[in-house]
Amino acid sequence: EHQRPLSGRHVLVTAGPTHEPIDPVRYIANRSSGKQGFAIAAAAARAGARVTLVAGPVDLPTPEGVTRVDVTTAREMLAAVEGALPADCAVMVAAVADWRVAQEAGQKLKKDGSAAPAPLELAENPDILATLAISGQRPRLLIGFAAETENVIAHAQAKLARKNCDMIVANDVSGGPGESVMGGSRNRVHLVTVEAVESWDDLPKEEVAARLVDRIASRLDSVRP
Ligand code: C5P
Repeated sequence: EHQRPLSGRHVLVTAGPTHEPIDPVRYIANRSSGKQGFAIAAAAARAGARVTLVAGPVDLPTPEGVTRVDVTTAREMLAAVEGALPADCAVMVAAVADWRVAQEAGQKLKKDGSAAPAPLELAENPDILATLAISGQRPRLLIGFAAETENVIAHAQAKLARKNCDMIVANDVSGGPGESVMGGSRNRVHLVTVEAVESWDDLPKEEVAARLVDRIASRLDSVRP
């Protein structure tokens, strides 16, 4: 099975942002195109895995051979992830909104020229990755992503421990003139595990996906029960 190193495996991927409604026409969200997560889902399918892709609101076609579940909010994403278990590996690429509006307005909020705008009260969203890590159905291999603007490696190592996952794929999204990871087609990542830190060159997101899928296959093989 050299060509199809993930055959017989179920790989779960989250991708894109979540949208947390303020009122019927407004929402809170993180910036995320979904490109990296969709590329990972596509690469896993090409490697022979059964793939469930839980996608937030993005404008991307469903990769061939991938089962896609569309969601809007973080809470819907968590429910879809839980509904897709068990999985051998989960790769949580989604840029989940950390907060939602505590009380979504049923009608569009109106501005009142004379009054100050009403403050938004926020509530914390569930952490899908951390929830999965302590669940009875924890995937054998649990991979998180981390978008950081500084101290990329140190923050990723802290996140690895805090979220009880097996690997954090960290990327520096601070960017520079003319380079943007978010929405762009390339990515420079660091693979952070308890054993090591491995930094890859700046690569097309498809190439990052293909290499990561190779790593997933070998790690799953090395811990095959
Ligand atoms: O803490 P931070 O948001 O930087 O962690 C990023 C990682 O955690 C990503 O893998 C992301 O998909 C996941 N995450 C999540 N649920 C959240 C927040 C982040 O699954 N509410």
